[in-house]
Amino acid sequence: MRDQAERLRTLVQRQRMVDRTLNLQNRVNKPQKQARLISVTSGKGGVGKTTLTVNLALAAQLAGLSTIIFDADLGLANVDIALGLLPRYNLLHVVKGEKALSEIVCHGPHGLRVIAGGSGLPELANLTQQQLEQLLMGLEELDASADLILLDTGAGLSHSVLSFLYASQEIIVITTPEPTSITDAYAVIKLLSQQGGQKLQVVVNRARGHDEAQFVYRKIVKTAQHFLGITPALAGWLPEDSLVTQSIIRQEPLVLSNMESRAARAIRQLAKELFVVNETKSQAPASGLHSFFIRLISSMKR
Ligand SMILES: Nc1ncnc2c1ncn2[C@@H]1O[C@H](COP(=O)(O)OP(=O)(O)O)[C@@H](O)[C@H]1O
Ligand SMILES: [Mg+2]
Repeated sequence: MRDQAERLRTLVQRQRMVDRTLNLQNRVNKPQKQARLISVTSGKGGVGKTTLTVNLALAAQLAGLSTIIFDADLGLANVDIALGLLPRYNLLHVVKGEKALSEIVCHGPHGLRVIAGGSGLPELANLTQQQLEQLLMGLEELDASADLILLDTGAGLSHSVLSFLYASQEIIVITTPEPTSITDAYAVIKLLSQQGGQKLQVVVNRARGHDEAQFVYRKIVKTAQHFLGITPALAGWLPEDSLVTQSIIRQEPLVLSNMESRAARAIRQLAKELFVVNETKSQAPASGLHSFFIRLISSMKR
């Protein structure tokens, strides 16, 4: 009973907050153009989220899509390391009012932009109305300037990771063929399916071949169909490739340093599948950073 009352109270509060932020959204002009935002996550850590995010973003950028990586792994933020960048400021500086959003954007290879999430998630809930408006205006500018935003999240089902995922409309869940990784990927899919309405896609990383990738995907999809009644799509798979580890050690992303390696080719192919708008495929409407943050802040207020 207590649980139910608590849940109802939360729902009502959440709705009020959404109403309030939506009013705000109307006042701060509707964004002209929204970038497409895709979150990259996994159940288990160390399965290749950062590697994939960085290389997919570069592949997209090289293919002509203006791309931003938002590093939302609050524990082990390492997109900057993978790209050899040294971000001086992060989202927390914006939230504290010390920097404008445009001032924390880092510039990586080939014009790829990176925003370090840093911590600051709880602080988002305590912004004043004026700070919130300023943040949302900065986000609108970023939306207008980018085609694609990839959000690298932490692993697992912590409160902060889930907040990011619940606010996302498109999510890539990465797994490797390892049984624990598969089980944990399914656990994420299960949680997200309870919210519903999101586009979920699976990427199998470190597969030894097409058959193994299919086997892993089928394991997930069978369980998801049986218990959750949903069919997450397979976005693609990436081979196990020792050049991936070498490129990480050298801090030279694979798609730049070993363009013709198996993994780099697979990443370019995956980027094509994921980002090239294909009329025959259903395309989730671009949701953008601006509306992502509105949903994120609303959930923080709960
Ligand atoms: N396709 C791959 N082939 C070989 N090793 C890989 C591959 N993908 C990832 N790895 C290894 O896994 C490690 C963890 O990858 P990372 O992207 O940091 O994972 P996460 O961000 O999910 O924690 C990397 O340091 C790399 O050595
Ligand atoms: Mg990572």
